[in-house]
Amino acid sequence: MKDAEHHHHHVRDTFGSSFGVLVALAGSAVGLGNLWRFPYLVGENGGAAFILIYIAFVCLLGIPVMLSEFIIGRRSQSNARGAFRRLAPGSHWGVAGILAVVCCILILSFYSVVGGWGVEYLLRALRFDFTSGGSSDLSSFFTTFTASTWKPLVCHTAFMLASALIVVFGVKNGIEKFSKVMMPVLFVIMIGLAVRSLTLPDAGAGITYLFRPDWSKVTSDTVLAALGQAFFSLSLGSGMVITYGSYVSKKANILSLSAQTALADTLFALIAGCAIMPAVFAFGISPGEGPGLVFITLPHIFSNLPFGGAIAILFFLALLLAALTSSISLLEVIVTFCIEEFKLKRKTAVALTAFVLWVLGCLCSLSLGVLGDWRIFGKTVFDLFDYVSANVLMLIGGLLVVLFVGWKMDRKAIHDELSNSGSLHVPEWFIGLLTFLVRYLAPAAILAIMVFQWIS
Ligand code: PFF
Repeated sequence: MKDAEHHHHHVRDTFGSSFGVLVALAGSAVGLGNLWRFPYLVGENGGAAFILIYIAFVCLLGIPVMLSEFIIGRRSQSNARGAFRRLAPGSHWGVAGILAVVCCILILSFYSVVGGWGVEYLLRALRFDFTSGGSSDLSSFFTTFTASTWKPLVCHTAFMLASALIVVFGVKNGIEKFSKVMMPVLFVIMIGLAVRSLTLPDAGAGITYLFRPDWSKVTSDTVLAALGQAFFSLSLGSGMVITYGSYVSKKANILSLSAQTALADTLFALIAGCAIMPAVFAFGISPGEGPGLVFITLPHIFSNLPFGGAIAILFFLALLLAALTSSISLLEVIVTFCIEEFKLKRKTAVALTAFVLWVLGCLCSLSLGVLGDWRIFGKTVFDLFDYVSANVLMLIGGLLVVLFVGWKMDRKAIHDELSNSGSLHVPEWFIGLLTFLVRYLAPAAILAIMVFQWIS
């Protein structure tokens, strides 16, 4: 009897504490998006103006989308697809959840490859490779390394295995425990790096670049890139907040959790900017270097800094920790989906998911080398997965989420989630503002930016 019951509705895991939820959410949000993607996008899009548009999107669109995902996840206590089906039985809304799972599959495939680069660079830092001369060939090293066949695959394998090993232990004993220890470590390292960078002799130029906007550089591409980056960095439209939200206690305050997560992620991006840009300018390097910025430029800087060897170790350790706390959240979205929709055991689901993603990741990695001639819509597999996830699927996912909460979901259920069934006081004006953002502003803005990009 007990076994049969266990089989039919298995007991769902939950987060253990509200601090645990916050570090897990912030851990998902803070990642390669902050340390790798944000700095090079800022550099390619002209600095402060991009940052201001990005912050406006985080506040006006990011927070409403995050809150909507939270409402869906915690209300339904289910995976990304199951959530929509539970709240709108007999409808086609489950497709929105499937899109989110597909989005996570695409992101994790290339994410694990870049995480693997982090593994290689940390090992090189530990051997003091960046500070023992020979810094002139750093750029060709990056290109040669990422285009080679075996080494990146070995590193990608290690990164994927590490993520799977954490997720196998579940939400409370795996994800939450890991994030609780690693997020504070990460925060301390990054503050230290920012202080070091800001006290360089020529830090001023980098600060100006980060904080004084030059609006003449803003184009429609800048706007789409800023929106895509806001969604990517906050892990929105990918079912992450739905999935983590489904493990959050009914007593937690999802409003303040959303605000705190957005704040932590944005602060972290700015701290990363302060750690990277002053150093870039101080050494006379161009900020518009592109995706190689942290992997080519930074090692070059480390080789010229006093104590550069130790700083390199800290930086790539931080990068790896940030990447892991995000990759486990991507994995968890897919794993929770497999456990609940296909009735698999966690171990089986993790093994299956990690294997499929490992294969896809291998394709991404090889597409930068031997499979480079294989193009889809003119892009390599790696670039296609990156572009389609951040600039298409996450935006569609976010759009569907706000439409669902704004127009489909029961008003009373939404109010219960926001106020914890009446035990929290939520001011009328706030509900009004939120309703406006979720029903009208967010859908219209997301749609307008996507359509404008397609036609231009
Ligand atoms: N937010 C992560 C980053 O900035 O690196 C990436 C990410 C994680 C996106 C989890 C989506 C997700 F579900």
